[in-house]
Amino acid sequence: MDGNGRWAKKRGLPRAVGHQRGVEAVRRLVRALEPMELDCLTLYAFSSENWKRSEDEVDDLMNLMRRFIKSDLPEFIENGVKLKIIGDWRALAPDIVAMLEDALEQTAGGRQSLAVALNYGAQDEIARAASAAAREAGGDGTISPEAIERHLDTHDLPQLDLLIRTSGEIRLSNFLLWQAAYAEMLFVDTLWPDFKPEHLSQALDDFARRERRYGGR
Ligand code: IPE
Ligand code: MG
Repeated sequence: MDGNGRWAKKRGLPRAVGHQRGVEAVRRLVRALEPMELDCLTLYAFSSENWKRSEDEVDDLMNLMRRFIKSDLPEFIENGVKLKIIGDWRALAPDIVAMLEDALEQTAGGRQSLAVALNYGAQDEIARAASAAAREAGGDGTISPEAIERHLDTHDLPQLDLLIRTSGEIRLSNFLLWQAAYAEMLFVDTLWPDFKPEHLSQALDDFARRERRYGGR
């Protein structure tokens, strides 16, 4: 979800307003999820590198997160949205961790997964998974890709099929590096606050037309 800051700058507004509009884009999308029949939508909300931003901006983002969980959790429960979190999220502020634990528990029975990447970095995820796999490796220390996969934060999520990046940047920025091995990629110029459910539907139509061969012919 990239481009909140540029969206605000274009309008002469503070970055915080861009982030607020970004949250509204998330809300619109989650509300439109059911008919799209997606098993899982994963959103990159806060990366392990985002701590480098100013303290004010990090505070704004954390407060937005608090407000969003509070305001939207009842709707998640009602609409069968099953929250998942990936990343080193237990290192966030204790009150956020507690809110997230509660939200995970309350949405566990949902049908459609909404995975949110919080304090997430793919290299960190892979290193953590490899360490866990190493601890259970046998005598010669061999670790298989499957063993790593079992320990990734996404171990209980469906395979990544389509990865979309907004705002015109063409890079992965440490997002789902392992999972993206055979994912289709879509880079769109739309800034995140302008991203509408129609954009996701369009992306899914585009995805459906692609031919996937997984290295075969
Ligand atoms: C993405 O928007 C939101 C988060 C990283 C939380 P940015 O804040 O990266 O927006 P730009 O890249 O400055 O436009
Ligand atoms: Mg950005």
